[in-house]
Amino acid sequence: MAKIVAGVATSHVPAIGAALDTQRSSEPYWAPVFKGYERSKKWIAELKPDVVILVYNDHASAFSLELIPTFALGCAAEFEPADEGWGPRPVPTVLGHPELAWHMAQSLILDEFDMTIVNDMDVDHGLTVPLSLMFGQPTAWPVKVIPLAVNVVQYPPPTGNRCYNLGKAIRKAVESFDQDLKVVIFGTGGMSHQLQGPRAGLINKDFDTRFLDRLVTDPVGLSRLPHVEYLREAGSEGVEMVMWLIMRGAVDNQVQEVHRFYHVPASNTAVGHIILENKGAA
Ligand code: DHB
Ligand code: FE
Repeated sequence: MAKIVAGVATSHVPAIGAALDTQRSSEPYWAPVFKGYERSKKWIAELKPDVVILVYNDHASAFSLELIPTFALGCAAEFEPADEGWGPRPVPTVLGHPELAWHMAQSLILDEFDMTIVNDMDVDHGLTVPLSLMFGQPTAWPVKVIPLAVNVVQYPPPTGNRCYNLGKAIRKAVESFDQDLKVVIFGTGGMSHQLQGPRAGLINKDFDTRFLDRLVTDPVGLSRLPHVEYLREAGSEGVEMVMWLIMRGAVDNQVQEVHRFYHVPASNTAVGHIILENKGAA
């Protein structure tokens, strides 16, 4: 049986990828950011998951206003890093797990989550930056990755409650797959940031801290937070954090907080990161 053993949440700031790709990660501005992930890299290297289900958002790279799937599940064997305007990141091709992904599609759709099945998709910083933060700069990614792209760019994004329940359905799907696989789920994006308008540059440490606390201890209450609250408190792009609730729904109700990191600023964004383990599962 496949099993979800842990959940990881992390920001996906594109400049973090650029810092790595241009060998600037030890510069004074960036060193504290990468220091916060040292323990995480060790943790995941020891855990050796077979598959990462990577919940992220596309930033008009694979999709555009012509096609806006709410939940798009990557069922392909490979996903290439997207060209976001200055060439694709020099990171390895992302290898998928089509068998598990198609099984998830079946289980989720029959459970009444209307997933879009995607067989051809390039993946942008939303997916590759979290991989770089957790796995560094290998010549090949050491895990298979199932991308799950969530629309948080064009109104209306899915509710926190919908995301939380999708996480629960993902867990059921994984646990009904009959291969012994160790699976970790990532929820990415956030934390507080706003990239445009008069409030560009907004950071809200109090909100972010409370979000991290409630993610651990009060996920059901947190899943009821309305979109307008994310916008008001965490900025227009802060709504990316609904994706963390998909991860949270897929792990145990009571989890062990293994690691937490918070740092301001990285570009325009508060970097937040947390690792939650299912007790006794790893
Ligand atoms: C930044 C953050 C994001 O989440 C993103 O998608 C693009 C840019 C930033 O802080 O620069
Ligand atoms: Fe983003």
